[in-house]
Amino acid sequence: MNLKYVSYMSNQAQILKENDIEKLLFQIREKNKRLAITGLLLLIQGKFIQYIEGPEDEIEKVYNKIKSDPRHNQLILLDSGDIDERQFKDWSMAYKKIDDQTVEDITGYKNLELDDLFLKPNQEKKHPVLKVLYNFTKALAS
Ligand SMILES: Cc1cc2nc3c(=O)[nH]c(=O)nc-3n(C[C@H](O)[C@H](O)[C@H](O)COP(=O)(O)O)c2cc1C
Repeated sequence: MNLKYVSYMSNQAQILKENDIEKLLFQIREKNKRLAITGLLLLIQGKFIQYIEGPEDEIEKVYNKIKSDPRHNQLILLDSGDIDERQFKDWSMAYKKIDDQTVEDITGYKNLELDDLFLKPNQEKKHPVLKVLYNFTKALAS
């Protein structure tokens, strides 16, 4: 059986209450147990970052469901690929909400200001890689 992982980042469509998150996690964990999917979900300043791993077919099906879920938007694929072994074998979906103070305490953390990142803001329009990076950062900072 081929194992695959997918990691993405998205914005919460609306602020979910703790109660809504608990219900969501309950449903996610039930389904993931059935499909042998494991992983991690982080909630950071209104953004979801999720890593899912499991059988290739199931990961593709579930990722397609997640992508069209109205509870989030502006979903960006961060990474995906094949793996030999799981990172989160004991977690049908580990969850952690990272509070604002923790984010600020992360060494090297800096608020993403596009003008700080792009010293010459006009260049991103000319260079294709910079254009992709610019749009990616813009989505992160919004
Ligand atoms: C942030 C977020 C993370 C989710 N993670 C998972 C997941 O790991 N596994 C899963 O099956 N569904 C996950 N879902 C739910 C799916 O988007 C979708 O609602 C669900 O898979 C639908 O299942 P059903 O069509 O079988 O009822 C997630 C939804 C959100 C908003």
